[in-house]
Amino acid sequence: MFDVLKIRQDFPILSREVNGKPLVYLDNGASAQKPQVVIDAVTRGYAEEYANVHRGLHYLSNLATDKYEAVRDVIARFLGAQDAQEIVYTTGTTMGINLVSYGWGIPNLQAGDEIILSVLEHHANIVPWHFLRERQGVVIKWVDCDATGALDPQAVIDAITPKTKLIAVTQMSNVTGTVVDVKSICHAAREHGVAVLVDGSQASVHMPVNVEDLGCDFYAITGHKLYGPSASGAIWIRKERMAQMQPFMGGGDMIREVSKDAITWNDAPMKFEAGTPGIVQQIGLGVALDYMMQQGMENIAAHEAGLRDYAMSKLAGLNWLQVQGTTPDKGAIFSFTMDGAGHAHDISTILDKKGVAVRAGQHCAEPLMTHMGLNATCRASFAMYNTTEEVDKLVEALELAHDLFA
Ligand SMILES: Cc1ncc(COP(=O)(O)O)c(C=O)c1O
Repeated sequence: MFDVLKIRQDFPILSREVNGKPLVYLDNGASAQKPQVVIDAVTRGYAEEYANVHRGLHYLSNLATDKYEAVRDVIARFLGAQDAQEIVYTTGTTMGINLVSYGWGIPNLQAGDEIILSVLEHHANIVPWHFLRERQGVVIKWVDCDATGALDPQAVIDAITPKTKLIAVTQMSNVTGTVVDVKSICHAAREHGVAVLVDGSQASVHMPVNVEDLGCDFYAITGHKLYGPSASGAIWIRKERMAQMQPFMGGGDMIREVSKDAITWNDAPMKFEAGTPGIVQQIGLGVALDYMMQQGMENIAAHEAGLRDYAMSKLAGLNWLQVQGTTPDKGAIFSFTMDGAGHAHDISTILDKKGVAVRAGQHCAEPLMTHMGLNATCRASFAMYNTTEEVDKLVEALELAHDLFA
């Protein structure tokens, strides 16, 4: 049984006050809070079980290595991957996508080859492709969303040409909450031999994911949004694509042998994991994903769908507030603007005085902001521990802000 009040007790920070008010944390799209089991795992990792991994022959090194490596299985289970060796550890989505850009894009793409991006993308799924545009003459083709923020999968499929090598698309927008039908895109892309990278930073937090069912080639997740430590994460890479990749960074665990004249690489996935990794961070991520799976991803999705519907109906009653991105295919992430408000930062500052934490700005998605004709929005983004009472507090704080601006 999904019991939100019980879940809230697992997150110590939720019982604190900010600015003399109970915390209403609605900035989960930026980073989620951590349950006590994750905090304990990180503390134990440093206090009792810390050593470097893969190198030592002593007790602590073996213990840390076993715990660290065991997380690959947890991530594989979480993503519905068949083989844990297809999981490459990263520090988050940004690193995962850069790994694909450098490790797969550089050796496999040439001048004139095309990459399709949607306008919904976060900069982390834009800038690494711009590197290839600037340095290798790769062409970026954009597919826009409609006025509700929805992305038509057919428009993405129609953009495929014989020169298309990659489609890089988010499964859930961090600005509008739009959920993208990536399965249809992957299906069509496969028929054309086009690779698909899915940015799962937001979707993996809010819905069950199965990479085999989606049929993608790369699926990136970021641990700190998944209730895990910052600088933890992973990217799932289909074996056939891994075989096409060169290492990205050099040093440490990615090496088999080095001489003055030659180098050989470790097997994947370690071939793509250079240097001392985020040992305790990854162990904490494993605990966070186990915690999510214990709650049940279907249950989390259903709870958050309830929050989305409740928030949508409440916000619809505020005729001076515009939700940016009203497509029904959306998760519990809302961007909004307000009549009479100066800048989104001002709204956020007033909400903060009421203990309500939201994000304001461009949300690392400037092409989307430009497409929507906006400089900035406020964004409320929900997590499994949020409640309808917190939606009410958000609305109260918004009413206060509106009164102040008026
Ligand atoms: C959709 C999306 N992609 C990528 C990222 C980048 O994630 P990270 O900074 O954890 O690498 C974010 C973070 O906000 C995001 O929301």
